[in-house]
Amino acid sequence: MSNIQSTKIRHFLTLMDFSKAELAQLIQRAIELKTMWKQGKQYEPLKNQTLAMIFEKSSTRTRVSFEAGMTQLGGHAMFLSPNDTQLGRGEPIEDAARVISRMVDVVMIRTFGHDTVEKFAEYSKVPVINALTDSYHPCQLLADMMTYVEHRGSIKGKTVSYIGDGNNMCHSWMNAARQFDFHLNIACPEGYDPDQELQDELGDQITIHRDVMLAAKGSDLIVTDVWASMGQEEEQKIREAAFASYQVNAAVMAQANADALFMHCLPAHREEEVTAEVLEGKQSVVWDEAENRLHAQKALLEALVIGLPIS
Ligand code: CP
Ligand code: NVA
Repeated sequence: MSNIQSTKIRHFLTLMDFSKAELAQLIQRAIELKTMWKQGKQYEPLKNQTLAMIFEKSSTRTRVSFEAGMTQLGGHAMFLSPNDTQLGRGEPIEDAARVISRMVDVVMIRTFGHDTVEKFAEYSKVPVINALTDSYHPCQLLADMMTYVEHRGSIKGKTVSYIGDGNNMCHSWMNAARQFDFHLNIACPEGYDPDQELQDELGDQITIHRDVMLAAKGSDLIVTDVWASMGQEEEQKIREAAFASYQVNAAVMAQANADALFMHCLPAHREEEVTAEVLEGKQSVVWDEAENRLHAQKALLEALVIGLPIS
């Protein structure tokens, strides 16, 4: 295990774990690391360091970006699934945390309950990253904020419209609104609202709409996510009916500002939450957004393990 770990362990369980200034610095660093990588510059500050990646749900982008990111930073990433570890056979999370964190330098977890990552972090000797829970997906928002900055500059004072389920992505967009200072319109059917406590904390920084057209009006960025998240597969049909009028299509995009962007964390279900026309259209930045998972998470790993640029 590394000896350069700072005395106070920093975790990244939600966007609220970093200050506004730290997040802004992290986004700038991600852009720098992307430039260095595109120029073919080798930068290996995490040589001999290991990232443990615990996946209790499926993943393409998160797994590939963390694993490739660790390789590029000179380190190693270890994929751990419940099928092959004792976690799947009921070993308590606090025991797994104490054991795994004595052998690696940083841990990434994708799981169901947010309390699982909180418990892991409580017992961990090394930084813990939330790679998606039922409640939050903060790594995705780092990439999303980076993508907006690259295409349009600062998001401060802008209007973002999230159209869809009040789920983990919606909650992370709400945290992003607080941390990056923009207004968030949320359009969702009744019964699929985001967490009430979080809504109360955001106050008038968010507006809940039932009408997608109104939610999209004058927006700088339209965002959506799948109607049925991982773990909700059995609700697919019920949700398809509930969300039928919440699709992002050309008519919805036409309500937004002319230079509005479209984002989706992916995977996307074409002709459900978004039409193929919008997903593949000129305003869509989804492929940059997916690539930026790599660069943003490299900046995050660097910050958590080395302590830079976060002081
Ligand atoms: N957006 C995202 O987290 O994708 P994966 O589920 O493929 O990791
Ligand atoms: N809300 C989706 C996001 C996938 C990246 C899910 O949790 O499945």
